[in-house]
Amino acid sequence: MREKIKFDPWSTEDIEDYSKLFDEFGVSPFEDLLAEVPNPHPYMRRHVIFGHRDYQSILDAIRESKPFGVMSGFMPSGPVHLGHKMVMDEIIWHQQMGADAFFAVADMEAHSVRGVSWKECTEVGINEYVLSLIALGFEPPGRIYFQSKDPVVKDLAFELGVEANLSEMSAIYGFSGETHVSHMMSTLVQSADILQAQLSVYGGPKPVVIPVGFDQDPHIRLTRDLASRMRMFKVETREGHISVRAKHPNKEAMHDIADRIEGDVKLYAEHVDIYDGDVKKIESIVRAVEIEHDGYGFYPPSSLYHRFMSGLTGGKMSSAIPDSIIALTDPPGIAAEKVKKAKTGGRVTLADQRKLGGEPQKCTVYELLLFHLIEDDAHIAEIFTECKEGKRTCGKCKSLAAELMTEFLREHQDGRGCARERLDEFGLKI
Ligand code: TRP
Ligand code: SF4
Repeated sequence: MREKIKFDPWSTEDIEDYSKLFDEFGVSPFEDLLAEVPNPHPYMRRHVIFGHRDYQSILDAIRESKPFGVMSGFMPSGPVHLGHKMVMDEIIWHQQMGADAFFAVADMEAHSVRGVSWKECTEVGINEYVLSLIALGFEPPGRIYFQSKDPVVKDLAFELGVEANLSEMSAIYGFSGETHVSHMMSTLVQSADILQAQLSVYGGPKPVVIPVGFDQDPHIRLTRDLASRMRMFKVETREGHISVRAKHPNKEAMHDIADRIEGDVKLYAEHVDIYDGDVKKIESIVRAVEIEHDGYGFYPPSSLYHRFMSGLTGGKMSSAIPDSIIALTDPPGIAAEKVKKAKTGGRVTLADQRKLGGEPQKCTVYELLLFHLIEDDAHIAEIFTECKEGKRTCGKCKSLAAELMTEFLREHQDGRGCARERLDEFGLKI
């Protein structure tokens, strides 16, 4: 399989690094689910989205037309760029597939971790991130909110703090004695962002997917853990039977569970054993009883991971190096110039290019075309092959990418103008 990937137009040099994440962190390869996804997003088809946790439960919800959610967010700091667009596209795709969609402007995080003033958080949050999100296709009733203005999120964060202790937070985030408390709190606010879609105000427990870059995985792992720690009951599959256990003795609820499950059920003081049951059915009964007894019944959140874009100048994208990124607010002419200066996978001389072929998997211009600018898979595959076979010059790719980028940005920036007029539809204003 890895051999095949080498000659795949969606391949990348660092695919090997990504595959390490599978074994090391327990992320699953997205490829295995791809065939089950209805109308997969180009990021999925092109292996830009490479990994997931628990995405199967999202696919099941889509297929069975059951409620599910999508949620992600950004700190309002720095210009909104093509890297952010990827997460936004993924949120919007899921919203169009029927998800309840949530977008957080992580102003508490930006304020506490990066020292961004509240005023700047609001301005940057709206003028950079929110306008682009709406212009890319986010629609009501999807929710866009600022963490600091959301009492539901803040209350949930406080509640989650009961289950999180300092030594595990330090192990996950590297907190030390010097770390200030608001920074720590902001990580719980992020867990609350992720879990709030499952609160009864938003329709109760459901699978929710969080599209993020892999750097956010520690948050996901912590939140998945907190979600299960907040449960009142645990459903465990044992040899020959299924056991439902209460974390804290709760006789009444235990009775309710035993009453509702059909078949061979044995009720004990703190658990119920079921000898011929279906796990899924039992889980849903347990969840319903938990809600009736004022519990949360959270599903652990699912996640999707995408490849990071490289910086156009080689190396990482960084807002500190303006030529390394294309901001969604860059004047199209400036963006086109950045594309023309970008690092390619071309050879030093044209003769070598003809003889050896280029290296599209190392080429930032190819990446722009693959991630953002070309819809048609066959067209992308053709560029890849032509490049590999030495039949393509980098000049040709650059003018194509510059032209498409100019067109995209013009349209997107018009869309941002219209989005400003629509802020009140999302309960926002500036
Ligand atoms: N921590 C994220 C960042 O650094 C922002 C964020 C806040 C977030 N809440 C979230 C991401 C919930 C995903 C889900 O940009
Ligand atoms: Fe990149 Fe195109 Fe040059 Fe190939 S020909 S290295 S794809 S710019």
